[in-house]
Amino acid sequence: MTASFSKVLGLTKLAVRGLICFTIVIFLYFALSASSCPPTSTLSERKTCEAPEPTGKPIVLLWTLPFGVVFDFKLCKTYFNIDSCILTDNRSLYSKAEGVILFHKDISWDLKNLPQEPRPYFQKWIWFNVESPTNTAKIPGLENLFNLTLSYRRDADITVRNEVTIKKTDTKEEFVLPKKDKRVCWIVSNKNPATGTTLREKYYRELSRHIKIDVFGIAFTEHFLEFEKYYPTLATCKFYLSFENSRNKDYFGEKVNGPLVAGAVPVVLGPPRENYEQFLPNGSFIHVNDFRDAKGLATFLKHLDKDHEAYMSYFEWRKYYKVTPHLLTLSKEFIQPFCLACDHISKDKAYHVINDLYGWYFS
Ligand SMILES: *[C@@H]1O[C@H](CO)[C@@H](O)[C@H](O)[C@H]1NC(C)=O
Ligand SMILES: *[C@@H]1O[C@H](CO)[C@@H](O)[C@H](O)[C@H]1NC(C)=O
Ligand SMILES: *[C@@H]1O[C@H](CO)[C@@H](O)[C@H](O)[C@H]1NC(C)=O
Repeated sequence: MTASFSKVLGLTKLAVRGLICFTIVIFLYFALSASSCPPTSTLSERKTCEAPEPTGKPIVLLWTLPFGVVFDFKLCKTYFNIDSCILTDNRSLYSKAEGVILFHKDISWDLKNLPQEPRPYFQKWIWFNVESPTNTAKIPGLENLFNLTLSYRRDADITVRNEVTIKKTDTKEEFVLPKKDKRVCWIVSNKNPATGTTLREKYYRELSRHIKIDVFGIAFTEHFLEFEKYYPTLATCKFYLSFENSRNKDYFGEKVNGPLVAGAVPVVLGPPRENYEQFLPNGSFIHVNDFRDAKGLATFLKHLDKDHEAYMSYFEWRKYYKVTPHLLTLSKEFIQPFCLACDHISKDKAYHVINDLYGWYFS
């Protein structure tokens, strides 16, 4: 054997060995992948079979149940198409939760009912409040405790509102005014609206001296207006008194949304007109501040009642914008904020700290 021949033989042996190894590797690769993923699987099936953990969804823990109401967290998917986290009220999941929702009204003055275990480094505490500053207790010790705010305010980290949205250009269905048999309506939780002394009740009392107002009660009152009758009843009124109990920035919501959805004109009392104009198309509502007094407002409402064309101008905005009915029962009313918090936590991975919570909220 020449030296060069034996060299060639050596190389060939090496190549054959290499080929065998390569074949085995290829075989193992296919055998293994076939065992965990059926070869006929579609692309989407293969995706799930490659990812052994089907839910990488973050856990969002509702620390207390507001007003003791038990929520059906599946409604997030039903109503808002949100399915990106695991919402739970099971406190044994605390150490794994990426978000913890703390309802302001449920926090005790001594803070003893807040989570007592250390907060995991990845966990965000979400301050949830639905009351206006006027009705919010300044519990000491919360100023620098939270990571996110969940509120009706537009400058909250997570804003919960019934927003007016822009219509798609191709949906041009004509607005048909519902049949009206009442002029001015009001729904109040207090069955005798004239008993209170707040501005809202004072204004109502004065206005009712100049124009007839149909008053309805809501849940827990004697003149109970069932939830199914809420929108249909509003639809039969030409005007609806959207009177807030306090006048705070951005503090108005379903009292305006209701009539807008039903096809009535809201008469608003709350923050200044400019604040409403930030959320509602101009010409969709009447503001009490536009009139010198309740008598002036009554005169204007009576005029609109007679002048059909002027009245109909309050529905012009419907050509371009739309509103969405808000959910009514207590168990559903609160589901939207939780769903939005869930959605937020699943998307926002940024570090977040709230410094001076009250400085922001009460400013
Ligand atoms: C709460 O979560 C723990 C831990 O996952 C579980 O063992 C327990 O059964 C859950 N409790 C309820 C009421 O679902
Ligand atoms: C909205 O309407 C009111 C009353 O008609 C008017 O005073 C105000 O200037 C309008 N605002 C805007 C932004 O057009
Ligand atoms: C949440 O806020 C607390 C208190 O300010 C802070 O110590 C913590 O680092 C924050 N965590 C995250 C994930 O933003």
